[in-house]
Amino acid sequence: MKKVYIETYGCQMNEYDTELIRSILKATHQYEFTNKESEADVVFLNTCAIRENAHAKIYGRLGEIKHLREKNKNVIVGLLGCMSQNLRGNLQRSENMIDIFAGPDSYKRLPSMIDSVLNNGKKKYDFNLSEFEDYSDVYPERVPGVNAWIAVMRGCDNFCTFCVVPYTRGRERSRNPESVVRETEKLVSDGFKQVTLLGQNVNSFRHNGVDFADLMQQVADVDGIYRVRFTSPHPKDFPEKFLKVMAENPKICNHIHLPLQSGNSRILEMMARTYTQKEFLDLVDKIRETIPDIALTTDIIVGFASESDADFEDTCQVMKEVEFDSAFIFKYSERKNTIAYKKHPDDVSAEKKTERIVRLNELQKSISFKKNKAIIGKRFEVLVEGPSKKNSAEWMGRIEANKTVIFANGAFSAGDLIEVELYNATANTLFGEHRPNLILADNSTSVLSEVC
Ligand code: 5AD
Ligand code: SF4
Repeated sequence: MKKVYIETYGCQMNEYDTELIRSILKATHQYEFTNKESEADVVFLNTCAIRENAHAKIYGRLGEIKHLREKNKNVIVGLLGCMSQNLRGNLQRSENMIDIFAGPDSYKRLPSMIDSVLNNGKKKYDFNLSEFEDYSDVYPERVPGVNAWIAVMRGCDNFCTFCVVPYTRGRERSRNPESVVRETEKLVSDGFKQVTLLGQNVNSFRHNGVDFADLMQQVADVDGIYRVRFTSPHPKDFPEKFLKVMAENPKICNHIHLPLQSGNSRILEMMARTYTQKEFLDLVDKIRETIPDIALTTDIIVGFASESDADFEDTCQVMKEVEFDSAFIFKYSERKNTIAYKKHPDDVSAEKKTERIVRLNELQKSISFKKNKAIIGKRFEVLVEGPSKKNSAEWMGRIEANKTVIFANGAFSAGDLIEVELYNATANTLFGEHRPNLILADNSTSVLSEVC
């Protein structure tokens, strides 16, 4: 048995892809996995390309792995995923020691690529993007836990002008919903309590007339699954039908990650996001009318090409108006060969980008803090995940809004749904106490009674 060490960078889709890779390798009965790169025969880096700093991180790691390779000439090094697909082997340096380059649609061929390197010592490259590969026939080798990711669609056809994803992950394709439901059933029998449906554009899911609302309903109908989440949707695909399914189904968590990107309509048009500031705000109103206690989180890019101070103020204004529960804020990072790279010069200075990201982070922090403080004293259903990372005497779990709650350990285990009363909060974390005998409030959309 050869030992494989895999390091994963980037988004949840990459985490999921690593689980696919593990499964594909395991099926050959030739590989086992290790957490120690020093004892590995094969070292894979599953990489990200979304921003330049994702590339920079990998270049740094490759420098370190070079030393490993110097000690053990036989170790096989593979660069997998988005950065590999993006650069197609044209790395600035360190590429001499990389034996395998493979993009996101090439993972089924990894075992034969490894064999080929072992047999003839030649480098292997595979950057074929497929219109059909959806890995629905592979049951990922998951890390045991409470949540399981399921990629229900792959690729992206949106071509937002800043984004490299359509080039690294290819065309949008949706899985057969039956395979998603079967996978959910198997996950339940393997002990998972929550599934998160993944896609670059998850709510654009469509397969033979089955849309995302239908899919969510089918997954939530699986017996034994407590919670269903999804990420990331695009604001363009929020039909009434989908919001109704969310509102009416207690297992679908009341949380939407709704990427805004910019609050300025001119910048949104340059980004090809297909909505204006007003349309985004109208969508938020519609969501809140249908699902009043919805938690909203977002992604924002600051310093996109030509963004002026006044344009940036619009983003601040939208943040204040919407009051997202939390936000991921990024400095614009120009990606080669994207539409923005070809059409819109990256002309906002590094200082301006820093100034704007600091300001927006501060603004969001104050909003998150205010919103979290406002729910102190309330009771929530919490899905227990396990010991807290900071203090193993304490436990952590999440409320439906996907916010983390810390509470004292008690007579429960990971995967339990329990009720917790909050007594404190910071911008990022809630603190609560387990309330064993309380009955959930009337307005609760809890599935607690169903599972107890
Ligand atoms: N620069 C900065 N941020 C980006 N994102 C995508 N592409 C870029 C880029 N070129 C951000 C978007 C997206 C999130 C996953 O990453 O906000 O929603
Ligand atoms: Fe990128 Fe836009 Fe597709 Fe998201 S929707 S992956 S931001 S192109």
